[in-house]
This record gives sequence, structure tokens and C-alpha cells, in this order.
Amino acid sequence: MSSEFPKGFFWGGATAANQLEGAWNIDGRGPSVDDHFTGGTKDTPRRITVDIQPDLLYPNHDGVDFYHRYEEDIALIAEMGFTMFRMSISWSRIYPRGDDEQPNEAGLAFYDRVFDCLRAHHIEPLVTLSHYEMPYHLVEKYNGWASRELIGFFETYCKTVFQRYRDKVTYWLTFNEINVGTKELGAMLETGIIQGFEGPASKIETSLQLRYQALHHQFVASGRVVAFAHERYPQFKMGNMDCFILSYPETCDPQDVLATQAEMRRMNWFSSDIQVRGAYPSYAQRFFRENGIELEVGKGDLDDIARGKVDFYTFSYYMSGTVGTHEGHAACQGNMVRGGLNPYLEQTEWGWQIDPTGLRVALNEIYDRYQIPLMVVENGMGAKDELTGDDRIHDTYRIAYLKKHVLAMREALRDGVDLIGYTWWGPIDLVSAGTGEMRKRYGFIYVDKHDDGSGTNRRVRKDSFFAYQKIIASNGAEG
Ligand code: BG6
Repeated sequence: MSSEFPKGFFWGGATAANQLEGAWNIDGRGPSVDDHFTGGTKDTPRRITVDIQPDLLYPNHDGVDFYHRYEEDIALIAEMGFTMFRMSISWSRIYPRGDDEQPNEAGLAFYDRVFDCLRAHHIEPLVTLSHYEMPYHLVEKYNGWASRELIGFFETYCKTVFQRYRDKVTYWLTFNEINVGTKELGAMLETGIIQGFEGPASKIETSLQLRYQALHHQFVASGRVVAFAHERYPQFKMGNMDCFILSYPETCDPQDVLATQAEMRRMNWFSSDIQVRGAYPSYAQRFFRENGIELEVGKGDLDDIARGKVDFYTFSYYMSGTVGTHEGHAACQGNMVRGGLNPYLEQTEWGWQIDPTGLRVALNEIYDRYQIPLMVVENGMGAKDELTGDDRIHDTYRIAYLKKHVLAMREALRDGVDLIGYTWWGPIDLVSAGTGEMRKRYGFIYVDKHDDGSGTNRRVRKDSFFAYQKIIASNGAEG
């Protein structure tokens, strides 16, 4: 089959500093929000503690030691043929407390080394400025994004890294999955509004008022840094990043259709309407009114949002869900959000509904709406892997998932969608954001690291490593 993926299409993988790097308190790095989350499982939520307790395990502290192994890891992804690597910068490695006067040189130097290594392998970095983390001090002192003051701290941090890496990085994303700031676990990781909270992550209760106010501050911050980047560094390409959960109506009852539209607006369109079009959507006003949300909008905020429109749209895509208004509508699992069950779809072991056709639907819907280049910057399946006697991992399930999603992208390209890149989530096994587990593996590269913190961190190529290598080498034809 011929490829039909455009020449220069970016193939790669995506990671986040807090789930990958480890070295949480090395070379001047300050503690970050996720360093206060213990490990959990599918059925046991991660706990948040105000102080780091010596008898508890905090899996993000060690990650999978990318901090010390980045050269080996980058050589491996280069061997797979990656042309793009999505990674995030740990804010607290650069500004350990977030409101410091001066950046931490050792932290800046680390990312210099990583970017240089990527460039040496002809891999384009795609850098997320904030991926589910912020210096914990900003939580303690300001209650995270609930405070307007974070806008200024974030700007300072972004300006520092823009200036430092201006010749090494072209593609930037402001906030990872900004839209999950409205939901459950996402609200904690995305907005850091967990000041003083201690207990299971599922038990925190934050008002919609607070979540949307925090998000408003993030939209303003995003707008300001995007506008600044466009003005100062015209070579930069600035993107948003949304968690796209496609929702289908459970039945053709118009009430279900209406409820699905409302959910799609709230979950998927609200944030990107703001970041791509540069304004709050018209439907937001009624939603705010009916939910008692009164945003405090500062002078100039809406102009900042209007000036900070992104150049390309990126999103994560793992699953779809259903929305229904009838009794008995069953729920399905997800990490940051929950959806409704769809009897036509299979699920991963963690209950995420696998829907490659939904990716094609999503790509078409998004492109119809915004008409700017798109990237799928997260997609993948978490699964338990077994190391066999011959030191191999025969992850046929992951290969099947990958191929079906590549096929869906190919069809979307045929439909006319301007899709420019695909970065698989967690090409190297890393700590799960939702559960803190290691056994929930996404990688093409196995890491010998386990839920109890044991393991050598040795890397092993899985069968999917070679499958993805072939897909990339054929520019998507083989898959
Ligand atoms: C996305 C996040 O929501 O999903 C990642 O951006 C996360 O940080 C990924 O790791 C997979 O979710 P999980 O909970 O399985 O790690």
C-alpha cells in the first residue's frame, strides 16, 4: 500500500518530565506537584500528601531515570527512526520555587544537553511548557492557578526557556491537556489547586467557580506567551494541547444528542475555541450562568487571549465514550475523565475503550472546525507486559492498537485533514499519570522498573519497537 502520509510527516513519541526524568531533588530542582502524589492502582486512588513522608512511595521521584539515561534513550528512539520527540520541561528544575528571582543554571544546562543530543540524531523536539506540574511552592503559597500571580511567574519561566533554547526548539505547546482542568483528577494536576489537601486524590472537592477561574488564568498566560513568542521569535510554532474524548450519544433520542453536544463543548471545544480562535465561545456564557460561575476577568485579559492564537492544534487521543440521559447508562474508565460505556468497543485492561475509527472522526471534526495543522501528540494503550525467557516482550496487543490508529490517520489524511505529526504516548515505559503505576506500560521500550520501586532501569526493545520502526521507515505505508 502506498504511504499517503505527507513527506516530512513527524513520527515520534511523547513523554512528560515528571513521569520520565526522576532526579526529583537533584541539581537544584525543587519539588513539583506530582512529587506529592503516592503510587496507586486502577482501583486505589493515588494519595496526595502535604509533606513527603519517608515511609511512602512517590513514583515520580525516580521516574525511569531519563535524567541520567537520556543518551541511551535518545539513541534507542533514533534507532526506531523518530523524527520528533515530545517532552516537557520541568518548571521546578528551572525555577525551583516558581517565584525565584533567578533560574537554576544546572536545570537549564540539563535541557541543553537533551536538545543537543536530539539534534545530533536529527530529531525535532516538541516541548510542552507545563505538563501536569508546577513547583509545589506555588501550591503552598498561592493555591496554584487559582492565583492571578501565577500568570507572571509562568511568563518569566517561558521567557527564560524561549531565550535559552531559541536555536534548539521550534515547536512549543503551552499546557498539556488544558481542558481536563475542569474535571476530577485533571483539575488537581493541571491547575494545582490543592493547597493544604491531604488524602486520596479522588476525594478532593473543588468548586467549578475555582476551576474555571484557575483555567482563565491559564488561558491568559497561554495567550501572553504565545503572543510574545510570535513577536520575538517568528520562527517558533506555538500549539495548544487538549485531551480529546470523543463522545457519542448513547441513543438517537434528541435528548442524548443534546447532552452529547454539551459534553463535547465542555470537554473538547471550550478550551480550543479559546486558544485557536482567541475568544471565549458564545455558549460559555449560558454555561457559566447556569453553574453559578462568575469569572473575574482582568483588564486586558481578553486582549491577551485574542492576541495569543496558536499556530497548530494538538491533542491526545486514547478512547471515546458515550453520553446518555436514560437510566442504566453505564460508565467506563479513563484517567482524567470518565465516559459512558459503548458495547461496540473493546477495552484495555484498565477499562479504556479502544476506538481507532473515533480517531478518524475526531481528526475530521477538529479540522472542519479550525482549519489549521493538527498533530496527534498522545495515543497509546497501557498494558501489562511479560518479559519472556529469551528476554523479549511479544506485545502483539500494542502492535494491533498502533496499526489500527495509523490506518485511521491515513484515512483522515485521505479525507483531506492537514495532519502533520504523530507522537505515541510513552515510547519508553514511564510512570502512569493516573495511577502512578509502572505495570501500566505504554512503551516500545521496556524499562525494568516496578510498582514497589525496585528494578535496574535496564531498557529492552519490545516487538512493537520493530513494528513502529517499520511503520516509520515506510512513512506509514506498512502498518
Ligand atoms: C494523558 C497525559 O492524559 O494520558 C499523560 O497527558 C498520561 O501524562 C497519559 O500519562 C496516559 O495516562 P495514564 O494515566 O495511563 O498514565
